[in-house]
Amino acid sequence: MRPAMLNDRSSALSLLETRRSAKPRELVGPGPTPEELERILTIATRVPDHGKLTPWRIVTVAGDQRDAFAALLSDALKEEKPEPQAAHFKKEDEFAHYAGQLVVLISAPVENHKIPLWEQQLSCGTVGMSLLLAAHALGYVVAWVTGWRAYSPKVNAAFCGPGERIAGFFFIGRPVHELEERERPELGSICNRWNRHLTNDQ
Ligand SMILES: Cc1cc2nc3c(=O)[nH]c(=O)nc-3n(C[C@H](O)[C@H](O)[C@H](O)COP(=O)(O)O)c2cc1C
Repeated sequence: MRPAMLNDRSSALSLLETRRSAKPRELVGPGPTPEELERILTIATRVPDHGKLTPWRIVTVAGDQRDAFAALLSDALKEEKPEPQAAHFKKEDEFAHYAGQLVVLISAPVENHKIPLWEQQLSCGTVGMSLLLAAHALGYVVAWVTGWRAYSPKVNAAFCGPGERIAGFFFIGRPVHELEERERPELGSICNRWNRHLTNDQ
């Protein structure tokens, strides 16, 4: 094998080994340029997709749309909480204005299809993961978050069509400080040799 190939492989592996998420509040702008964003989203949507159904789509929220997004969250909050306090509204305003590029991933399954819904949702999850990796490869960090906003009927109606759901809000930016590594599961605790006699009730 040529040395150049080796280098390419080891840098790809070290990218995979070093990716980690940020909290939205740990990000600063600027987010990716339009060209970088297009590249990130193109890579993100190059994923396994049983039946080639494209059961997902992506909505980008531009910087000048953040106030409208904040107004939507504020409206949705009134439905979510019977007596929202000023602090709750402030939190939503902060959320809507977190730094970086905001991208919303939508699960858009084809209903009543022979490809099970579960598989279509899995495919959507791979779009999220590929987005994180592509952004990381370009030097960005991503916060993938959901929370009540992703399940609010009002927010859903503003982003989704019938049968669609929000899979996550992705803020793509730069970290304000070096991100600490978090504990990862021991491979031995989540990966083992198949025991064919194991059943659910054992
Ligand atoms: C579907 C989904 C929704 C998530 N929603 C939240 C969230 O609302 N808030 C949060 O703090 N982390 C959330 N996370 C977790 C973070 O995105 C991230 O995985 C976590 O901070 C661990 O970072 P890591 O990617 O470095 O392992 C979510 C993850 C997934 C896959």
